[in-house]
Amino acid sequence: NVLILDFGSQYTQLIARRVRELNIFCEIFPYNNPPQDLSSYKAVILSGSPFSVRAEDAPHPDLSGIRGKLPMLAVCYGAQYLAHFNGGEVAPSNIREYGRANLSYIKEEELFLQGVQTGSQVWMSHSDTIKQLPENGVRLASTNDVENAAYRLDGEDTYAIQFHPEVYHSTDGKLILENFLVKIAEVPQNFTAANFVDDIVAELKEKLKDDKVVLGLSGGVDSTVAAVLLNKAIGKNLYCIFVNNGLLRKNEFESVLHQYKDMGLNVKGVDASDRFLTALAGVDDPEKKRKAIGRVFIEVFDDEAHKLTDVKWLAQGTIYPDVIESISVKGPSATIKSHHNVGGLPDFMKLQVVEPLRMLFKDEVRRVGATLGIDPELLGRHPFPGPGLAIRILGDITPEKVSILQEVDAIFIEGLKANGLYDKVWQAGAILLPVNSVGVMGDERTYEKVVALRAVESTDGMTADWVHLPYEFLMKVSNQIINKVKGVNRVVYDISSKPPATIEWE
Ligand code: XMP
Repeated sequence: NVLILDFGSQYTQLIARRVRELNIFCEIFPYNNPPQDLSSYKAVILSGSPFSVRAEDAPHPDLSGIRGKLPMLAVCYGAQYLAHFNGGEVAPSNIREYGRANLSYIKEEELFLQGVQTGSQVWMSHSDTIKQLPENGVRLASTNDVENAAYRLDGEDTYAIQFHPEVYHSTDGKLILENFLVKIAEVPQNFTAANFVDDIVAELKEKLKDDKVVLGLSGGVDSTVAAVLLNKAIGKNLYCIFVNNGLLRKNEFESVLHQYKDMGLNVKGVDASDRFLTALAGVDDPEKKRKAIGRVFIEVFDDEAHKLTDVKWLAQGTIYPDVIESISVKGPSATIKSHHNVGGLPDFMKLQVVEPLRMLFKDEVRRVGATLGIDPELLGRHPFPGPGLAIRILGDITPEKVSILQEVDAIFIEGLKANGLYDKVWQAGAILLPVNSVGVMGDERTYEKVVALRAVESTDGMTADWVHLPYEFLMKVSNQIINKVKGVNRVVYDISSKPPATIEWE
């Protein structure tokens, strides 16, 4: 197990992902709230930070309990922090040290840089520079502009690098992490999907014993994998509830419910479409829509949960990025859209929470799902927002608009699949605009709705770019939509990136 102390860098999560790619388990803790008991940790990594070590309000934690006791790798801010407080010198740099650089010097016969050649590209992102190494510092690498690009402290397993090994542009970054973690710290590489499944199933059995657990299935990857894991651990004591809010994709409720049953899950499908659509009638503000849907979901779920007796636990498909966000140095980031999966437990459901996936990144959830034998098509599904089509119908929602959008969306998504484009896209969907435009069909003038198609590339939804779908494909889909969906006479394609736009239109 590796401990990552976060000083607030935008790259901290990436460090964790790279470590996990080496099949090594790691956990991120804020620098000011590290774990009390270090006995299960074999190494520690200090992250970068937006601060300058010379600033008074910068993170200056006491590392005496860790340094020298565990092998330590200090990245960027971490490297400057070690230098600044141990007799070295950190000063503002004269030149901009941002972006690509190449190692021009590498000290020979150092395990830490084994396999790394001079010329190797590294990614720099800092405005201070280490002018002088700490007292027992030994320089390990330089670039043309940065003399102290890597160093170690003599007499201890403490290593420091000014560049970011976690960033893809540092070509040998992963190798350096591997040298440090595997060769120097000797951390075992045993964090695999199969081992995770064995461990978590045993843990869930032990924790839940004969208790009953309730879980809301959404049709998405996370809740599905959580359910299958729990099913493996406690079988029929897991009660799954799959709610149709009337805002799902075309035929989604029936087909996914069927799939769940085929997977042997103890699942109850609850069609509450009318309740949701009634609550949404006349609501056009996006945040009010989200709140109404959240409220009705809780009511419906609670009604169903009350029909079960003696339930002790609520299971959730929370994953690690949500957890990191909620414990982050910076605090949960400002709410741009009011969606949160963490802490979503309403007061009146006094259940204990169990979150089997809370330590996993999304790609790891998919791998665990594959190990569990879940249908690859289900695991490869695009993300779909909880409020569903409600936030893709701009303005107020009516059953008629929902069904128009379902038809349009189905043509688009089926088209992506049929043309081998679905897996190249991170998320796609259609948006029904509150605009009518003039068209002509046969000899008749029409005055009907406009739909926008959206397809984006992304890794985590935080940033995204529109996908350059082939014109041929867009042409076919547009024709099909206009010819087949009554009420739509115009199709446009959204070519905005996030930021400054968002993926959804509401
Ligand atoms: P935005 O529109 O903020 O979307 O760029 C980023 C990702 O979040 C999804 N999204 C939501 N998911 N409830 C959810 O569960 C919501 O209210 C919500 N709003 C946006 C969106 O589909 C995209 O994947």
